[in-house]
Amino acid sequence: MSDSTTIHAGSAASADPGANSYETAAARAAEDPNGFWLEAAALLEWTRMPTRATDDSRAPIHRWFPDGELNVCHNALDRHVAAGRGQDVALVYDSPVTDTVREFTYAELLDLVSRFAAVLRDKGVEKGDRVVVYMPMVPEAVVAMLACARLGAVHSVVFGGFSATELAVRIDDLRPKAVVSSSCGIERSRTIAYKPLLDEALEIATAKPEFTVVVQRPQLQAELVDGRDFDYAELLAATPEGAPCVPVKATDELYVLYTSGTTGKPKGIVRDSGGYATALAWSMPNVFGLNPGDTMFTASDVGWVVGHSYIVYAPLLAGVTSVLFEGKPIGTPDASTFFRIVSEQDVNVFFAAPTAMRVIRKEDPDGAMMKKYPMPHLRAWYMAGERLDPDTYEWTTTTLAEATGRSIPVIDNWWQTETGWPIAANPIGLHEYPLKAGSPTVPVPGYKVAIVDAAGNPVPAGNEGLIVIELPLPPGTLATVWGDDERYISSYLSAFDGYYLTGDSGYIDEDGYLYVLGRTDDVINVAGHRLSTGVMEAAIASHPAVAECAVIGVHDETKGQIPRAFVVLGDGAKDADPEALRKELVALVRSEIGPVAALKEVDVVAALPKTRSGKILRKTMREIADGRDAVVPSTIEDPEVLERIRVAITG
Ligand code: COA
Ligand code: AMP
Repeated sequence: MSDSTTIHAGSAASADPGANSYETAAARAAEDPNGFWLEAAALLEWTRMPTRATDDSRAPIHRWFPDGELNVCHNALDRHVAAGRGQDVALVYDSPVTDTVREFTYAELLDLVSRFAAVLRDKGVEKGDRVVVYMPMVPEAVVAMLACARLGAVHSVVFGGFSATELAVRIDDLRPKAVVSSSCGIERSRTIAYKPLLDEALEIATAKPEFTVVVQRPQLQAELVDGRDFDYAELLAATPEGAPCVPVKATDELYVLYTSGTTGKPKGIVRDSGGYATALAWSMPNVFGLNPGDTMFTASDVGWVVGHSYIVYAPLLAGVTSVLFEGKPIGTPDASTFFRIVSEQDVNVFFAAPTAMRVIRKEDPDGAMMKKYPMPHLRAWYMAGERLDPDTYEWTTTTLAEATGRSIPVIDNWWQTETGWPIAANPIGLHEYPLKAGSPTVPVPGYKVAIVDAAGNPVPAGNEGLIVIELPLPPGTLATVWGDDERYISSYLSAFDGYYLTGDSGYIDEDGYLYVLGRTDDVINVAGHRLSTGVMEAAIASHPAVAECAVIGVHDETKGQIPRAFVVLGDGAKDADPEALRKELVALVRSEIGPVAALKEVDVVAALPKTRSGKILRKTMREIADGRDAVVPSTIEDPEVLERIRVAITG
């Protein structure tokens, strides 16, 4: 495959003197990745400075900074304190659901993290051990993540909206030594007990951790099992001395974050230490235009990659203040929450999922809430996690301009759990491009993006195809799938030699702008949450009344997509009451996957559309649901069945 479709903004990136900073950086990262990324690595403090950037000795899997050694927590905390910035604010915890705003300076956060690291170390957690973190958006979640990083232990945060079953699947895959959790989370005005879910997961899991640490919140106290569960506050109070940082190889794992694939088993995306820290530290000034002393407010969750990278690691690595928000865009208490925080905390860069703007707009179409708060420090408004549809882009841009009296760029950025940081964005720290609705602008330096057809041939500008990235991926991207290099290769690297398959489709326009249209597989995106329809199908198929089923993502005005299930009943269940069955299936998916799956629509159908060899036409159903030209295979068994599904989907 030629790389003639590798894209750059406007013209081909080059190092010529007339090129803008973006073009120069993109060209250098492409032509001299070693020099470019070694220079970026100097943004960090290393216990052993790397002398080489890329390592392709295990190609197609690439590693970064093979001879480097560092500690990521040292770079996020100790280094800033040592440089005299201990009294600067590292983290602001803003929790409208508990009516709390609390600041942590770099020195305070370092004290908490190093002492919690000592707690974990004293209970036997060592370099390379895994620790699962199952927590709501509380500062202790950040403390737990950084404490693991301090010890060289590998954390794996599991999003609180997942069920006990999903938590158990991750525990069994990781075999953690410990779990850090919380007595409860607060969802709007409801208190959600986390500990019973953890207890259930520990019952189900075969790989039992040695101990758990539980943050007891005043809203709900959890029962602790003697000898297994320990109270976070008590342990911390009994540990006055912090633990030092343990240097690790740049290639050692910092964390594993599970994400939905097309099969039932989630993929444990492995993130290395040195490559990730370098990429994030470089991204802050260059992609986000943020520097020490600035403030970033990322309204995501530490259970997702956006939270790992732009609530926790990148801001702290860059010496920026990060806002940790426990609440929702609406209802906590209303649609003004984001703007209040931007105003009160002098936020320079805000970041959230487009869904959040859609729900705010629904509640407050004229933006009265946005206009209530002066936001003089705001410079850019980032959106990611799902496609930023042009309508939401236009509304946000216009309403922000009305509210601030200035033009605030609304910057779509496209990436994945796998990549860890943006693949495409408007890199305002290097060069600000004119924005186009529906496009995340240009590839970030280090990513060589191409569009190909199913055979791997480049497609001309303007034509839709599969989005691929030329290897090696830049630092910060996935090192492998936990415990399974083969799965990494077969899922991502084997479709086209020398390229990473993103699983997204899109096109590049004549100006070199990238457009991302949607997934080409069975992954859906519900309110910025990535979910696998395959896992939902497995849960539904376990119901005794169901003979077979298909779940697809259908368009939803606020959540972007929502799952919709089509089920065929078994012979013995043909008389089942469809409404009663719907309720049972919704409850089943909720208990097997979690409330976040948000399945509500279930259609009982006589048959599913299939090929003559019995393969369900999920792709065709997806295309119908997306309003695209659906490709109907010539081998279809019964076109009538598909027609009935088409009517059900399109109404
Ligand atoms: N812990 C426990 N339960 C959770 C949870 C968590 N961390 N997160 C969500 N849930 C539950 C919710 O309470 C809800 O339960 P319910 O069905 O009993 O009401 C269910 O999961 C679905 O939640 P959600 O998808 O969040 O829907 P919602 O209607 O409560 O809120 C939005 C809608 C748009 C406000 C919300 O989805 C949102 O803020 N989305 C942005 C997501 C985001 O930031 N993603 C990160 C990518 S950058
Ligand atoms: P996650 O791994 O949860 O971050 O989800 C990654 C997937 O979400 C991508 O593969 C895309 O399908 C989708 N996605 C994320 N950000 C964007 C974006 N800015 N534009 C379009 N799709 C996006």
